[in-house]
Amino acid sequence: MSTEDSTQTVGAATTETFGNLAVLEPTGHPMVPEITQETYHRRSVAGGRTDVEIVTRALALGMNVVLKGPPGVGKSYLAKYLCAQTNRPLYRITLSETTYKEDLLGHLHLLSSDDGGTRTEWIDGPLTRAVREGASCCSTRSTPPTRTRSLRSTPSWSSDRPAR
Ligand SMILES: Nc1ncnc2c1ncn2[C@@H]1O[C@H](COP(=O)(O)OP(=O)(O)O)[C@@H](O)[C@H]1O
Ligand SMILES: [Mg+2]
Repeated sequence: MSTEDSTQTVGAATTETFGNLAVLEPTGHPMVPEITQETYHRRSVAGGRTDVEIVTRALALGMNVVLKGPPGVGKSYLAKYLCAQTNRPLYRITLSETTYKEDLLGHLHLLSSDDGGTRTEWIDGPLTRAVREGASCCSTRSTPPTRTRSLRSTPSWSSDRPAR
């Protein structure tokens, strides 16, 4: 198995924190988003806490976070902002009914070898790559579920509505 040459890991933790998350040393990783504190609007969610406080606390405890809501309310932007402020690379994955596990994990690629035969090369998927690098992964569902409606605030969604 080989990894791509450009694999770059995250920086070491600094003593600084953002919410409850450790801020990492910047390494110039190309997948670290850029969003400044001035451009991010923090929202009070529950018990007077902000979205940033709640999510960074959960992440610092080792939990995964699921953000639910209609398109455009800021779910992805929050993930980007946390990564931007803590120097974490972010890989985004769009999930749909046609997403295979190979799309996330990676696959073997068949190549011609110099001796005229064939050889295989492993190509990382975004999830594997994120794990190798210590990066974060943000997945977005591009199509509504066929049997359940988890987005209660968009009651007009149905299974035959176009992907967004
Ligand atoms: N907290 C926020 N502060 C400032 N702008 C925001 C915020 N949340 C969302 N936005 C703006 O709204 C846009 C859409 O948000 P996005 O995260 O893509 O929505 P979602 O992932 O929920 O569909 C962002 O690109 C950004 O310009
Ligand atoms: Mg999104």
